[in-house]
Amino acid sequence: MPFDHNDHYHPLLLRHLPPHGRTALDVGCGTGRFARRLAARGYEVDALDPSQEVIAAAEAAGGGPRYRQADVTTQDLPAGRYDVITCLASLHHMPFATVTRLRAALAPGGTLLVLGCYRGMTWWDIAASPANAVARAAVYAGERLRGTYAPPLKAPVRQPDMTLPEVRAEAARLLPGSSVRQLLFWRYLLTYRRS
Ligand SMILES: C[S@@+](CC[C@H](N)C(=O)[O-])C[C@H]1O[C@@H](n2cnc3c(N)ncnc32)[C@H](O)[C@@H]1O
Repeated sequence: MPFDHNDHYHPLLLRHLPPHGRTALDVGCGTGRFARRLAARGYEVDALDPSQEVIAAAEAAGGGPRYRQADVTTQDLPAGRYDVITCLASLHHMPFATVTRLRAALAPGGTLLVLGCYRGMTWWDIAASPANAVARAAVYAGERLRGTYAPPLKAPVRQPDMTLPEVRAEAARLLPGSSVRQLLFWRYLLTYRRS
């Protein structure tokens, strides 16, 4: 089914971009769909992913970002460089404390945006299930009718091992002043601004 829970939140993430941002890093970029949206907004984008397969697909799609096959937990990141760092459905692939590396790479006033996944089911998630089924069926039917349906290349996936309360506690400890908001479809949005 083509409905993508991460792509669904692109407009929300774009609304949280800093007003005069110029440099961006997209961590765990997959096939680069969000990195290209940042580039289309005029950002100079670095986009990292350790998977050779998705980086090849991202490069084939082009669109402006500088793609690099790299693991963000070991890659040297330039200190204080980025006006925005985004991490879409990728933080749970690495230790949560990786956010401190990302914080150090933020320019003063820069923003970290994490669209995250958490473990377990809350009441909110149970309520989301019918909306999820409807959204998936509607997108699938629309693409079939238009004849545009093509199974996408799937980026590597992993089950999250932190619950939402654990994410909130770690975010408060490692990124004081950050906020974590629960979203529909088993996602949260962490926002942090480097002072
Ligand atoms: C579920 S996919 C999400 C891809 C993309 N952000 C999206 O929204 O479609 C998670 C991505 O994180 C990448 N990833 C896993 N470990 C990573 C690491 N240590 N550093 C950077 N990216 C990583 C995976 O290769 C995968 O492409």
